[in-house]
Amino acid sequence: MFLKQPLKYIREHTTKPIFNIDFTNTNNRTTMGEVDPAFVQEQEHRPKLSIIEAKGIPEIDLSPIFNHDVPDQSAVDALVKEIGSASKEWGFFQVTNHGVPLSLRQRLEEASRLFFAQSLEDKKKVARDEINPTGYYDTEHTKNVRDWKEVFDFLSQDPTFVPLNSDEDDHQVIQWSNPSPPYPPQFRAIVEEYLEEMEKLAYKLLELIALSLGLEAKRFEKFFKLQTSFIRFNHYPPCPYPHLALGVGRHKDAGALTILAQDEVGGLEVKRKSDQEWVLVKPTPDAYIINVGDIIQVWSNDAYESVEHRVMVNSQRERFSIPFFFFPAHDTEVKPLEELINDENPSKYRPYNWGKFLVNRKSSNFQKKKAENVQIYHYKIA
Ligand code: OGA
Ligand code: NI
Repeated sequence: MFLKQPLKYIREHTTKPIFNIDFTNTNNRTTMGEVDPAFVQEQEHRPKLSIIEAKGIPEIDLSPIFNHDVPDQSAVDALVKEIGSASKEWGFFQVTNHGVPLSLRQRLEEASRLFFAQSLEDKKKVARDEINPTGYYDTEHTKNVRDWKEVFDFLSQDPTFVPLNSDEDDHQVIQWSNPSPPYPPQFRAIVEEYLEEMEKLAYKLLELIALSLGLEAKRFEKFFKLQTSFIRFNHYPPCPYPHLALGVGRHKDAGALTILAQDEVGGLEVKRKSDQEWVLVKPTPDAYIINVGDIIQVWSNDAYESVEHRVMVNSQRERFSIPFFFFPAHDTEVKPLEELINDENPSKYRPYNWGKFLVNRKSSNFQKKKAENVQIYHYKIA
């Protein structure tokens, strides 16, 4: 199978680190012994190549809310309970019968493949820059280690309003906008159509989550009027050292919810709450993987926790995934909901401004930075 190379080997043999890997050009891919240290995970964070698949994340059938003209109240109640326990015990679950047309997902996945199959030069025609964090780039870092992937980001609202910078005293607001990729034809139109479906599903899931916390169904809706959500196209090329690098390093998602479409290759791992083991999320055709993000953790005052996850790479096969990150409006003050705190269960977080948090994250993920990026535990009340 895979050659296990100790770190010592890399140090001794890395004479010319290769930066600017062109993921498109297979002749240009790095080979064993020329490991770019920017991609190498610390020993404790490297993936185990023996895979744990037992006791995977819960699978939840959403047909009680999608396939009935007159809802069956007891089926909806049972669904709310399922969503509540999956959110509490796993922070991750898969949904089926979610209402998103399979043909639309397939058109989107095909568009993503065609986009990434272009030359690096063509992809860079819609490259991200320091001002607009949308479009193509291949330099994302998670916790200061470079991820083995290339991405294309597209906002759900065009324009999207955000603070100019993360400085608390600066109140200037700017607009982010979307690129119009010239290839494949119709890419933008397909993405826009799919985004509408993602939003519909995201609102439904938030309603179920609100009900499961004993809140009014629409409790969260107002935070999303001028949402900052975006969709990401991930391409993970085959990687010659899957035991050292990760497609995405361990992290938690910062937003409210993530709705992920993964292909049949697999590689997403979730840190199981019951025993802290990394567990592979087995691909289920036409299902979506949902995870609770940091914002729900704060809103719920830790009743539901945002769970760590990461992506393994594969030495043989490329992998594609498409997460939709459901983010509130930039001026949202994120803090535990009043209904969920009391004298016995006081607020565990100081409020923070979502826009400032987001802008801070965007700037630090783009490049390797010295400081750790902003995290919700920085707002935790001791
Ligand atoms: C992410 C993420 C998982 C995947 O982009 O935040 O966790 O399977 N992606 O690509
Ligand atoms: Ni993630």
